[in-house]
Amino acid sequence: MSKHPAGGYLAAGGYLAAGGYLAAGGYHPAGQKELHSDWAIIAQDQLAEECRKTESLSQLEELRVRTLGKKGQLTALLRRLGDLPSEQRRDAGARLNHLKQSLEAILAARAEVLEEAAISRRLLAERVDVTLPGFQVRVGHRHPLCRTLEGIEDIFLSLGFDIVEGPEVEWDSNNFEALNMPAEHPARDMWDTYYITERMLLRTHTSPVQIRTMKTRKPPIRVIAPGITYRHEAIDATHMDIFYQVEGLVVDRGISFANLKGVLSLFVAEAFGPERITKFVPSYFPFTEPSAEMMVSCGLCGGEGCSGCGHSGWLEIMGCGQVHPQVLRNCGIDPEDFTGFAFGMGVERIAMLRFNIPEIRLFLENDSQFLKQFP
Ligand code: DAH
Repeated sequence: MSKHPAGGYLAAGGYLAAGGYLAAGGYHPAGQKELHSDWAIIAQDQLAEECRKTESLSQLEELRVRTLGKKGQLTALLRRLGDLPSEQRRDAGARLNHLKQSLEAILAARAEVLEEAAISRRLLAERVDVTLPGFQVRVGHRHPLCRTLEGIEDIFLSLGFDIVEGPEVEWDSNNFEALNMPAEHPARDMWDTYYITERMLLRTHTSPVQIRTMKTRKPPIRVIAPGITYRHEAIDATHMDIFYQVEGLVVDRGISFANLKGVLSLFVAEAFGPERITKFVPSYFPFTEPSAEMMVSCGLCGGEGCSGCGHSGWLEIMGCGQVHPQVLRNCGIDPEDFTGFAFGMGVERIAMLRFNIPEIRLFLENDSQFLKQFP
């Protein structure tokens, strides 16, 4: 019998044609005496060659299915062993099985190589180059409004004041009535109020915390009350409908306007610097008598007058006055026995004066270009 595959059990048109080295169609056992050993070697060599060409485990799996899979070429051959005359079947079976084992070994070896290659590719791709420059972590800082508020608090804490707080949703009675503004009082028009119900509102100032404090604490009282307030304002460069205030209240025996001037002058010297001068201008608030507006000399022009201060040389920084006797009475404190002073300032306004910020809306915009100027 010829050694050439064309004359073997697996005709050339079969296992060598079109890249298929074990094409079942080429298996012609009839008339042949034995399985030629050459075709097995060729099949093995060819699979080894194809194996080498596979570049991925999925390609290799395709190859395995094509040869050893259920519908694979070798499997087909094994199935047809029964067609052989029985004297040849044993030998052919042994050869095919041997071939199957060799092919499996070749595939397994290639799988190992590809797996290792895949792992090293992954390791390479996932490698962290520790010598690369790192990303700079940008550290944030306190908001200029926060810093201003904390600065104000520190000054009053150092003067022996306590910090108290009240709710932003307030009763009309605390926001207006107890502050000497009964219903229909025209002074209520000083604040454009957001009402929640007829009796409940968003506090228009921190002054209701005075009432809450006097109703729960006995004099001597020395407190500041920082917090958010709301007004139905037309928004512009100096007005917002939400802003911070710091309220102050002192109640004790013998408290006079001189104490008010002393404390607030000290505050201004600490907050704006000792070179700034102050003055008190008569004003009106229903909850103080007498009432005043405290003015501080303009830091831009030194009091000469400039566009920053409306050419007056002065800037108004807070409202203040002696606590109205009726307000003390409303809170159960005898005005014959005790007197007090109170003040209220807008924190945004103080921050704008301190940092020369021309536009109140900047505080709420959270523009990092703006914020990083106040490290
Ligand atoms: N509550 C006032 C306002 O928002 C400010 C104020 C004025 C507070 C005089 C006071 C004060 O405590 O005595 O306009």
